[in-house]
Amino acid sequence: MKVHLAIQKRRSYRGIESFDATDQLILELAKAASLAPSCFNNQPWKFIFARKKDILDKIKKTLSKGNEWALESPCIVTILSKKELDCVIKGKEYYLFDTGLGVGQMLLKATELGIVAHVIAGFSADEVKKVLEIPDEWNVIALIVLGKKSRKKKTIGDEERPERLALKYVYSIDEFSKKLNKKVAH
Ligand SMILES: Cc1cc2nc3c(=O)[nH]c(=O)nc-3n(C[C@H](O)[C@H](O)[C@H](O)COP(=O)(O)O)c2cc1C
Repeated sequence: MKVHLAIQKRRSYRGIESFDATDQLILELAKAASLAPSCFNNQPWKFIFARKKDILDKIKKTLSKGNEWALESPCIVTILSKKELDCVIKGKEYYLFDTGLGVGQMLLKATELGIVAHVIAGFSADEVKKVLEIPDEWNVIALIVLGKKSRKKKTIGDEERPERLALKYVYSIDEFSKKLNKKVAH
């Protein structure tokens, strides 16, 4: 799949159903993330794919209200990092930025493989840490809910891509854009 198509097709769908999350699929997703750029090639990311029923069920219990749609997922990825693993330059910490670059690539790879990969922040990081026995010093940044786009279930927000900020606000050439940050359909 061409990159521009993957960018266009990727969506955070909520109407998902289960699929066979094979070792091969997990490997491909992890590899796509690991090829992302990072400061000094530090690669500060770490991913835990929860797939075994008892572990996955425990992860699902950490979800916040409103994220019940994720209960259909056969595999949920925990995104981890910690400050010490990456550059801190003039007080600027790059670990979250670099981990996000890795996740971005993983999302596009999932799209290419026909899989919905939906990032969520609505969960309890403390509870996830307990379930997966993650050492205290690690930062649980977000989860990625994997699923197959459901053919039957239509969930609110799934039909149209949420509006984006006007590109005139998002970028500018040779000067700082003072345009208003109005959301528009793309
Ligand atoms: C860090 C982060 C946290 C998010 N948390 C949630 C969440 O808890 N529940 C949810 O349904 N979607 C969540 N989303 C998905 C966003 O709502 C979605 O990406 C945004 O509306 C744009 O839609 P699109 O990804 O389909 O283009 C989150 C996305 C990101 C990147």
